[in-house]
Amino acid sequence: MQQADLIWQNGELVAWEDAKVHVLTHGLHYGTGVFEGERAYETDQGPAIFRHHDHLERLFKSAELYYIPIPYTLEELRAATHELIAANELRECYIRPIVFRGYGQMGLYPLDAPVEVAIAVWPWGAYLGEESKRDGIRAKLSSWRRIPGDSLIPHAKACGQYLNSVLAKIEASKAGYQEAILLDSRGFVCEGSGENVFAVRAGEIITPPQTADILDGISRKSILQIAADLGYPVVERDLARAELCMAEEVFLSGTAAELVPVREIDDHTIGNGAAGPITLELQRVFDDALHGRDPRYADWLDVVKVPTRAA
Ligand SMILES: Cc1ncc(COP(=O)(O)O)c(C=O)c1O
Repeated sequence: MQQADLIWQNGELVAWEDAKVHVLTHGLHYGTGVFEGERAYETDQGPAIFRHHDHLERLFKSAELYYIPIPYTLEELRAATHELIAANELRECYIRPIVFRGYGQMGLYPLDAPVEVAIAVWPWGAYLGEESKRDGIRAKLSSWRRIPGDSLIPHAKACGQYLNSVLAKIEASKAGYQEAILLDSRGFVCEGSGENVFAVRAGEIITPPQTADILDGISRKSILQIAADLGYPVVERDLARAELCMAEEVFLSGTAAELVPVREIDDHTIGNGAAGPITLELQRVFDDALHGRDPRYADWLDVVKVPTRAA
């Protein structure tokens, strides 16, 4: 991975190589942590974090659901992120805030373990590759089902839960595919290992609902809004697995991957095997929103003060 100079750790900026934890960190053993994945993009006004407030709100909600009190306010973490991006002189970056149970208490009762917070930023290109955004990816329906809401909390972005995504991702990669799409415990389409999923059928844009154990993606929310603004009928409903393969277009959305067309699922060609027209239009407007080129979505950007040295 590409490194930056500094990481924000428990209220201080420390050198990248010094941002360490003890091997008996609670979260390392039991997955007791929550995190976010955000991006800042270069805009005319300087680096801007996409839907920063929404990401931090989700971080606080994820933490609360797992009984992890964050020892900072949302506004403090927002300011820390700005400070960190400026101190690293980055104009575009991925942003990873993480809150976890630290060192001092082992065992499965976590409430006496201390809570630590760190924020890292670094340059990170499109997660599934820049060419994937143009040409689309080959996806595999996973044999692993998405964690159900009566075992864990799919709506929370929690560390331990990601073992589910890791298994699906390994299975898909070993079979020669770029991404896995998981079904929910009922057998309906849920989401990718790190992305939400959309299908276009008869001109309608369909995505699985909250009740399908999805992570309520911030890119997903943004794309639903953009699609509605463009006049497309959008519907959140359960999708049968065969409907994905029968769709005219399929695409994935996520902060890391952005908006990625799916050109094949389980070796079935989607549409004509190229990114479809609705996917491409949504991708273009979404990209404009991310980069501050569409005034309709200016509110989604949290502009970071540009550091004098880098300006
Ligand atoms: C499991 C899962 N689903 C969906 C998403 C997409 O969410 P977002 O658009 O907020 O990045 C992510 C990425 O965070 C994810 O990890």
